[in-house]
Amino acid sequence: MAVIPVALAGRAYEVVIEDGVLARLPEAAARFLAPYAGARKVPFVADTTTRALFGAGIDESLGAAGLAAEWFVVEPGEDAKSWRVLEALTDWLLALSVTRRDHVFALGGGVVGDLVGFACAITKRGCGFVQIPTTLLAQVDSSVGGKTAINTAAGKNLIGAFHQPSLVLIDPLVLATLPPREMRAGYAEVLKYGLLGNPAFFAWLEENGPQVVSREPAALEHAIATSIAMKAEIVAADERETLDRRALLNLGHTFGHALEAETGFSDRLLHGEAVALGMVLAAKYSARRGEITPADASRAEAAIAAAGLPARLSALGLACDGAALVEHMRHDKKAEGTTLPFLLLRALGEAYVARDVMLDDVAAFMDEELRG
Ligand code: GLY
Repeated sequence: MAVIPVALAGRAYEVVIEDGVLARLPEAAARFLAPYAGARKVPFVADTTTRALFGAGIDESLGAAGLAAEWFVVEPGEDAKSWRVLEALTDWLLALSVTRRDHVFALGGGVVGDLVGFACAITKRGCGFVQIPTTLLAQVDSSVGGKTAINTAAGKNLIGAFHQPSLVLIDPLVLATLPPREMRAGYAEVLKYGLLGNPAFFAWLEENGPQVVSREPAALEHAIATSIAMKAEIVAADERETLDRRALLNLGHTFGHALEAETGFSDRLLHGEAVALGMVLAAKYSARRGEITPADASRAEAAIAAAGLPARLSALGLACDGAALVEHMRHDKKAEGTTLPFLLLRALGEAYVARDVMLDDVAAFMDEELRG
């Protein structure tokens, strides 16, 4: 078990990582459930998958504590992060007479967490919420830090708010039912922490990555706890990404988003897979600039490939050229001009924001990588 504080003045909260914590929810979230003792039901938001997998257990444990859940269930997938679903969810919260002192429980991956967090940011000008992330990606990244958002026609996560949860409950046992591909995609974000700021953790993952991906309990808990401890520290230092600290969490994302856009944000390339490949590209581009050695770039690539994640751009079989990928990056950042900030590596375990990257050079680099 690990309890990691997120030390934000006035909004401090804990991330509890414990096998089986979901089964003892009434005790683990007692403070946030107490206002529902009596006639009111506890608002729970899930998707159809997490409702089916964990809903009955939650109903049972709440029932044993004299509580009952009221469920709002969305379809799995990014479409739930929409104005339409947000409106339905906020109407539902208002119909339940949720107050600013109340807490809504989000049971699911990043989509459910982002949607519920944003709904809670705006309902009654801000009510509380508890995150119960059920994917590895949400457990190590999106459930912590208070970034909440929906998607619009103009792009992903462009409408949202910083709104911190009051508690994050991480039960690694819920990952038992996560499809292996999703597990690997979440693991990309774990590797990200090693690469961006923790050389010892990166070296540990080189040795123990397969045990994490195969859900060996001790390795999995160590990987989640180390990732969250790093995220908590970064969020406490730069909650709103106004310094260059929180931006480091975007390592691999500029390259990765371009690949997601080129593959239509589809199952062809999951977000975590795009980040994995994006980190390989960031490492190779850093080596091209002479900032890390080619051997270090190969180490990053090997760690990603060893987890069964995509590590070679040429293997994706994209029909586009490097200039098209750079256009996606420019569009993603709503930027014009010849440069963009890029997250690059000074060492394996030391990322930084480079502001002198010329986009025509990135396009030429991507052309080489596309050819293989
Ligand atoms: N997922 C990046 C962040 O929370 O800042």
